[in-house]
Amino acid sequence: MPAKIAVIYYSMYGHIKTLATKAAEAAKATGAEVDLLQFPETLSDDILAKMHSPPKDAAVPFVTPTDLPKYDGIIFAFPTRYGRAVAQVSAFFDATGSLWATGALTGKFASTITSSASQNGGQETTHLTTIPYFTHQGMIYVPIGYGDQALLGLGEIHGGSPWGASTLAAGDGSRQPSELETGVAAYQGKYFAGIVNTFVAGKAAQ
Ligand SMILES: Cc1cc2nc3c(=O)[nH]c(=O)nc-3n(C[C@H](O)[C@H](O)[C@H](O)COP(=O)(O)O)c2cc1C
Repeated sequence: MPAKIAVIYYSMYGHIKTLATKAAEAAKATGAEVDLLQFPETLSDDILAKMHSPPKDAAVPFVTPTDLPKYDGIIFAFPTRYGRAVAQVSAFFDATGSLWATGALTGKFASTITSSASQNGGQETTHLTTIPYFTHQGMIYVPIGYGDQALLGLGEIHGGSPWGASTLAAGDGSRQPSELETGVAAYQGKYFAGIVNTFVAGKAAQ
């Protein structure tokens, strides 16, 4: 039975959606069953208009808390807001109390992808401050280390770190994920799916 993986993203301006899509494609190429989902919006249309937020992709389903237990592993992808996860992700996590109460996510795998406007705008703190959620749910956090050697290069400005793939959007959102950054996202999708596939196969063989 193939592993079931979800890549769940929140993306206001599209940068995270690009990385999430790359990770999902790479995970799928391993033979895992992969769903691309998005976090529900919590801001009003009025606020979204003021933030010049384009409409959400209607082709990507919105996730609900009850969707999570059906996956063996989940890659969560979301931008930085003040050095931590967007409120839309926190609000979603806050709605998963029944999953916590029943241990429904215990033993499942989790990994994170993020983005920020600036180079030192808080990507690592965003990954780090999301780990308590996984800890409380009993999930197994999967960082990517330096498995993709491109992370070590200093030849160009780039996102990505041992925590996970990322991009730098620039203050006006004008910078798009680079080839290096989408490559790291693909590496993360493949690496993560490889671990989850192995776990699912091992469990089935018990
Ligand atoms: C309210 C708000 C807070 C933000 N805080 C930060 C921040 O602390 N550091 C930073 O570099 N970028 C910050 N940003 C920029 C976002 O991280 C950036 O727009 C996002 O990474 C782009 O991803 P997206 O296109 O997927 O929405 C902030 C943006 C908003 C709207």
